[in-house]
Amino acid sequence: MTAPHLSEDTRARARQLVALYPHPRSALLPICHLAQEQDGWLRPEAIVEIAELVGVTPAEVMGTASFYDMLHTEPLGRYLITVCTNIACLLQGAYELLEHAQEHLEVRAGSTTADGLFTLEEAECLADCGRAPVCQVNHRFFGDLTDGRFDELVADLRAGRLDDTVPPHGTLVRIRRQGGLGADEGTIVAERRAMADAMAQRAAAASGGPSGQGTGGGGS
Ligand code: FES
Repeated sequence: MTAPHLSEDTRARARQLVALYPHPRSALLPICHLAQEQDGWLRPEAIVEIAELVGVTPAEVMGTASFYDMLHTEPLGRYLITVCTNIACLLQGAYELLEHAQEHLEVRAGSTTADGLFTLEEAECLADCGRAPVCQVNHRFFGDLTDGRFDELVADLRAGRLDDTVPPHGTLVRIRRQGGLGADEGTIVAERRAMADAMAQRAAAASGGPSGQGTGGGGS
């Protein structure tokens, strides 16, 4: 038996997430983010293990992950630079900035530099319109950009001067929630069973079945 790809810490956090939901598959997206935090992207081995953790097929994990822009099923550069070209940024020169970024990094949007450091992509509104034009690096914001400020940003990233500001790709938050779920496995199983029973009773009530009240008025 081969060792799991996901680290024990990632798997433990994934199991906590599964326990938070009535249905394990509801934890699919947050667990994808955990795996992406570990590897920077969703590796095929991780996809298989996520599927096992939430009780779906790897194809279902892939289908979900490939739908969302923030999840990546292909390797990325160390820094994912996302340039907004939506209306506020466009009016402040975002397309010219993107053109400059492509020339400066010598890649087209959607690809990665030969040294594996930067992946450049174009995005819709990043919700920082007041500082247009804006980009994100590994989902951290940099606004009021000019060509010169973009070049400085790239130089600072290359030199590691922003390591305190810009974490590795996949890291959404650096402060871990403490405590998590306090319930043990047995309590979770019992609560799930109670919920399933309650739902069955409610369905029977709605259909006028033997344990129902006839109309199923939707009381809680
Ligand atoms: S339009 Fe660029 S951040 Fe909103």
